[in-house]
Amino acid sequence: MGDEECVIVVREFDHRKDLASVEEVEKRCEVGPGGKLSLFTDLLGDPICRVRHSPAFLMLVAELSSTKETVGMIRGCIKTVTCGKKLYRNTKTSDPSEALPIYTKVAYILGLRVSPSHRRMGIGLKLVRRMEDWFVQNGVEYSYLATENDNQASVNLFTDKCGYSKFRTPSVLVNPVFAHRLPVSNRVTLIKLSPSDAESLYRRRFSTTEFFPRDIDSVLSNRLSLGTFLAVPRGCCYTQGSWPGSDKFLSEPPESWAVLSVWNCKDVFRLEVRGASRMRKTLAKTTRIVDKLLPFLRLPSIPEVFRPFGLHFLYGLGGEGPSAAKLVNALCAHAHNLAKEGGCSVVATEVANREPLKVGVPHWKMLSCNEDLWCIKRLGEDYSDGYVGDWTKSPPGFSIFVDPREF
Ligand SMILES: CC(C)(COP(=O)(O)OP(=O)(O)OC[C@H]1O[C@@H](n2cnc3c(N)ncnc32)[C@H](O)[C@@H]1OP(=O)(O)O)[C@@H](O)C(=O)NCCC(=O)NCCS
Repeated sequence: MGDEECVIVVREFDHRKDLASVEEVEKRCEVGPGGKLSLFTDLLGDPICRVRHSPAFLMLVAELSSTKETVGMIRGCIKTVTCGKKLYRNTKTSDPSEALPIYTKVAYILGLRVSPSHRRMGIGLKLVRRMEDWFVQNGVEYSYLATENDNQASVNLFTDKCGYSKFRTPSVLVNPVFAHRLPVSNRVTLIKLSPSDAESLYRRRFSTTEFFPRDIDSVLSNRLSLGTFLAVPRGCCYTQGSWPGSDKFLSEPPESWAVLSVWNCKDVFRLEVRGASRMRKTLAKTTRIVDKLLPFLRLPSIPEVFRPFGLHFLYGLGGEGPSAAKLVNALCAHAHNLAKEGGCSVVATEVANREPLKVGVPHWKMLSCNEDLWCIKRLGEDYSDGYVGDWTKSPPGFSIFVDPREF
């Protein structure tokens, strides 16, 4: 094994040279065990697509020095996020607008793949270590990743061999896009915010939520961000026409309000469920045909997921007041209709496990994942200003800000 390890060369991905071989490894890794359904991801010819919208990113490939065969790859990106908060001096209030975020530089690892024919030879470990070297060179304090709880190989690699600890278990909530439109409650007014209004609302209300990206402005103004929508009870003084701006709104908010933003993953990657029986596919198609023909019945039809399909991701979900969950529900109906217009098959979001607004997010359990495992490791100390101590030891909060660039 030692000999095998030393003939592995890890180097930066070169689009021109490596595209075909990387796609080949990706394809081999996605094949699920016989007889079961598996999820295939089509990166639309751009293996860096899931990190390229972050402030800094890198993709590494592992190749055999003798044959130049590509046998593995890893992607990583770096950004600055909130890891805690501090109160203004002389303030004893729990109002989030009275607290200040504490930022830290974090790195996110994703898309680690090793060709099935070359596993258990230390290649995964080598790729992670080389990626971490780049993180450290760039002053990263924490590195983290998301994996499925039951992916034993990945969990063992990161926790046993690389020193990561289990950190958070947010829920991925996925809802199908039906052939009919969903009605938005007539007791709710929806207001579309401009990117700059959305930025000031998010900064004032959510910048102390963990993982809030300091460059939220570049997220909101990205071409993939389809808009930020605010829901308020109908009859309150705010409408699209009389919108006074976020500062005024937050100084005199209605009793309840909710907000979310929509990100277009469809232009970044496509998913495909493979391995379904013909009967299952026919059944799904039949529900869609009936739903299309008789939309007023509002049948919960099964979307097209057995061919490459796109999705929208809902991020920045938040709100306040006793009716906030209901308002979130109305926002989700609106987002469903946007996804339908955009030709998507599902709408997904990811929220903290204990998020109080989770009840307002419609989702199908069979498509969702209640506990997405996030693991974290501290790479350096004392970069954030000492208020937080070791973030990896901190208990989870009620909310988490999941960056759409990394979904
Ligand atoms: C996870 C994956 C990248 C590991 O790659 P690898 O090159 O085989 O890993 P390594 O040889 O470096 O293994 C290092 C350690 O990881 C753990 N590990 C790796 N594969 C394992 C397995 N199948 N079962 C249990 N532990 C495993 C072990 O602790 C191993 O150390 P050991 O061999 O001394 O026992 C590879 O299995 C893979 O590509 N899986 C499919 C894609 C995936 O799940 N990616 C992770 C998403 S975050």
